[in-house]
Amino acid sequence: MAEKFFVTTALPYANGPFHIGHIMEYIQADIWVRFQRMQGNEVHFVGADDAHGAPIMLKAEAEGITPQELVARIAAGRPRYLQGFHISFDHWHSTDSPENVALSQDIYRRLKEHGFVYSKPVEQFYDPVKGMFLADRYIKGECPNCHARDQYGDACEVCSTVYAPTELIEPYSALTGAKPILKTSDHLFFRLSDPRCVDFLNGWTTTPNRLQPQVLNKAREWLSGTGEQALGDWDISRDAPYFGIPIPDAPGKYFYVWLDAPIGYLASLQSYFESGKARANGEPRSFEEFLTAPDTRQVHFIGKDIIYFHTLFWPAMLRFAGPPYKVPDNVYVHGFITVSGEKMSKSRGTGISPLRYLDIGMNPEWLRYYIAAKLNANVEDLDFNPEDFLARVNSDLIGKYVNIASRAANFITRHFGGALAYAGGAQALRQHAAEAADQVRESYAAREFGRAMREIMAHADRINQEFDARQPWVLAKDPARHAELQDICSRTLYGFKLLSVLLAPVLPEVGARVARELFGLDRALRWSDALEPPQRVKPYQHLMTRVDPKQLDALFEPDSPAAAVTAAPPRAASNASAAAKPAAAKSGAASAAPVATGEAASSVPTISIEEFKRLDLRVARIVAAEHVTGADKLLKLTLDLGTETRTVFAGIKSAYDPATLAGRLTLMVANLAPRKMKFGISEGMVLAASNESGGPYLLSPDSGAVPGMRVS
Ligand code: MSP
Ligand code: ZN
Repeated sequence: MAEKFFVTTALPYANGPFHIGHIMEYIQADIWVRFQRMQGNEVHFVGADDAHGAPIMLKAEAEGITPQELVARIAAGRPRYLQGFHISFDHWHSTDSPENVALSQDIYRRLKEHGFVYSKPVEQFYDPVKGMFLADRYIKGECPNCHARDQYGDACEVCSTVYAPTELIEPYSALTGAKPILKTSDHLFFRLSDPRCVDFLNGWTTTPNRLQPQVLNKAREWLSGTGEQALGDWDISRDAPYFGIPIPDAPGKYFYVWLDAPIGYLASLQSYFESGKARANGEPRSFEEFLTAPDTRQVHFIGKDIIYFHTLFWPAMLRFAGPPYKVPDNVYVHGFITVSGEKMSKSRGTGISPLRYLDIGMNPEWLRYYIAAKLNANVEDLDFNPEDFLARVNSDLIGKYVNIASRAANFITRHFGGALAYAGGAQALRQHAAEAADQVRESYAAREFGRAMREIMAHADRINQEFDARQPWVLAKDPARHAELQDICSRTLYGFKLLSVLLAPVLPEVGARVARELFGLDRALRWSDALEPPQRVKPYQHLMTRVDPKQLDALFEPDSPAAAVTAAPPRAASNASAAAKPAAAKSGAASAAPVATGEAASSVPTISIEEFKRLDLRVARIVAAEHVTGADKLLKLTLDLGTETRTVFAGIKSAYDPATLAGRLTLMVANLAPRKMKFGISEGMVLAASNESGGPYLLSPDSGAVPGMRVS
């Protein structure tokens, strides 16, 4: 039976653009959401900007604009990231919205009515120049313990002592430098310590399958604290000036940003339903109907720093506000992303800018795959390591997944006009695919994405091995064995379809292209497609390129203009960074223009002997070499392989006069998938060496070698 989900990610503060931590969270949630949708479940996935609070107010003031203008500017930048990384939110809203004002005030009134709100005077530092109460981070002074100067009001960054701002020696306002004065004001509190609250939270947190074990432990710690550690009530009001939602019947007071922020989840959902975009059976649905349906599941994806708000305050607020509000069913917590082991700095972000990643033409699905491969269901940090990223994406996505399709599809196109046929039927294969799909489904459902990727790649290995073991390139040469060739290529392409379905939550674009361009489906892949052996394929079209180490260099270069990078020529050796890590092969020209690399050999990821053996390297005699009209880099070579001749377009025109080539021996990759080029089909590639200072130099075997000999 189809399930109904309301899924959110944490609402990002609207005082800056997304960093890689946000993108990581969205990718995690999006993979899960797409997976659920592929299962036929109804998923409503919403986000919003967290617009309120003092930092945004002060930042806008510093820029001489209103907070609303600042928030609108940040919001305008969001779609580029969300579309760029294929995050499939159904709706994006703001906590500074009429829906959120109404919902927050409603929830507050109900809490107050039910006896969960009280008022109490609080003495706090006040900046007399600014006319504003100061949160701890806006107060600085000398540490009472180690006497380090200019420490923040909550803790010393030098000796780590935690204290109250009133304990600072010579405190001053970080906003104006003024000496703060102590001033009293009435604050409103949410009675988290109420026994009804504690009872409810004890039950809610321990409900089976609700929280991850690590999160449950944290919550237990907070809930079971006594004395100093006992659960405290929550200060939910701030005095003007504040950018926030006015508290009903309390002039000059606003909700603390963390009160209205999670309510923003509901505001976004409501705005989405009221926009008419949320439909069931073609009918627009009502927000309340959906929220109160007994089978609606409310799921929040968040990072580990905001567990407290999401496992204590938020469920308690919802529970004691009462219907139609419902408590969350799950809060799924992830760790933080680090870059090469470095924590992200609040001010500088990480070494990776998501926008630069997109601007320099890096494929968003590489990052989606890499993050998926490293995620599990625990609250563990995840490291982005450039070498690891390159190795994993190139070996898994290109080496194991994409290549297999081009190799098998090219035989089918060339010899069988696109028709597939399974010797003895496809029943056993179907059975096998069903088992694979069930296994991977469980991993996705449990948010064990890394396990899912490992399972998928194990299937890819099996498919590649079977293909290689049957030596289709040998079968292709013997017309009597073409039925066998068709069978192994068909089995392989069914395998590729299975892999595409299983990877579709992670690689939605590739999945959509495979569905349309290879299998001729006029819709996105569904999970059940794994059970349908394909009957035809269309000619293979290039699906994904390898990661080029140059792109990773560019990603981490802080100052060069991002846009210039893709078009940039290979860097000269005098460039400092290029000298340390020289540019790699001119990629993309592979089958036509074999150009070896000037890259330090040790920086290329290692491969196994099995992987090397998949290359069919042969001695070939160049029987003819000619210029190609209209091509300024290519020569057309006719190569004798002993048992057959091949046509190869090679990017060696700059270094060779065709007249000198006829008759000489060279080496070629004989099992490179044929590639359709402007001038004809290139059926392999010859090997040549080059770097920035010279080449290409064709390779040749020692005397005695004859065409067709295998190179190993
Ligand atoms: N505005 C609050 C959330 C309100 S939710 C009702 C907030 N915003 S945030 O912009 O600071 O963080 C948004 C999300 O990004 C949080 O889930 C946070 O944990 C996550 N991340 C922030 N830095 C991160 C990493 N380095 N890695 C992964 N996620 C990180 O908190
Ligand atoms: Zn100190």
